[in-house]
Amino acid sequence: MTFEGGEGAGKSTNLDYVRDRLEAAGIPLLLSREPGGTALGEQIRALLLTPENKGMSSDAELLLMFAARAEHLHKVIIPALQRGTWVLCDRFTDATYAYQGGGRGIPSERIAVLEDWVQGGFQPDMTILFDLPIDVGMQRAGQRGELDRFEQEDVSFFEAVRASYRERARQHPRRFRVVDASLELDAVRQQLDEILDELLAGTHVGP
Ligand SMILES: Nc1ncnc2c1ncn2[C@@H]1O[C@H](COP(=O)(O)OP(=O)(O)O)[C@@H](O)[C@H]1O
Ligand SMILES: [Mg+2]
Repeated sequence: MTFEGGEGAGKSTNLDYVRDRLEAAGIPLLLSREPGGTALGEQIRALLLTPENKGMSSDAELLLMFAARAEHLHKVIIPALQRGTWVLCDRFTDATYAYQGGGRGIPSERIAVLEDWVQGGFQPDMTILFDLPIDVGMQRAGQRGELDRFEQEDVSFFEAVRASYRERARQHPRRFRVVDASLELDAVRQQLDEILDELLAGTHVGP
């Protein structure tokens, strides 16, 4: 299950909420994030996020994302799924289509080549998109101190990211659930409860 959306959308906050609900239902699970999720992946994450690498080319950025993902997918995610553990991941490949595709302008066909290389047909079972206006997200994220290399981008970058995310959701309606993340936390959680009720109704836990 992947959690997607812009800065300050509430991904991290609600990942904890979803974890608590699934754990209460007896589901074994693992929380992870991208870029990252492995020792090497976290080193790549640091390269991607540090403002020191301001001049990084879009292609280098894209390739680093998939280098981290290859490590994460094959060493952590797939082994976990094979032992019956659910994986909740803070961002995944939809973020690459949104940031490196929409934001940086790399054609999605090129991203699809790497997706196919690294993932084969592998896709999340469910993706929750936390959608909200850019200014609301920035206001929420603004409390966090020093901005990383992506957070330093301008509003037009984030508008393109948001539009790409929404387009991805339209293209993959069976996998995506779009949550209105602009609402107050209780109302966001009501939307998540509906999604989880539906999910758990179709899930058999235990022997
Ligand atoms: N629905 C909400 N209403 C108001 N504040 C929120 C809401 N969801 C999250 N926040 C706050 O906004 C900030 C960013 O949330 P966070 O979960 O870190 O976003 P993300 O991980 O998507 O960047 C946090 O301080 C969080 O407490
Ligand atoms: Mg977060």
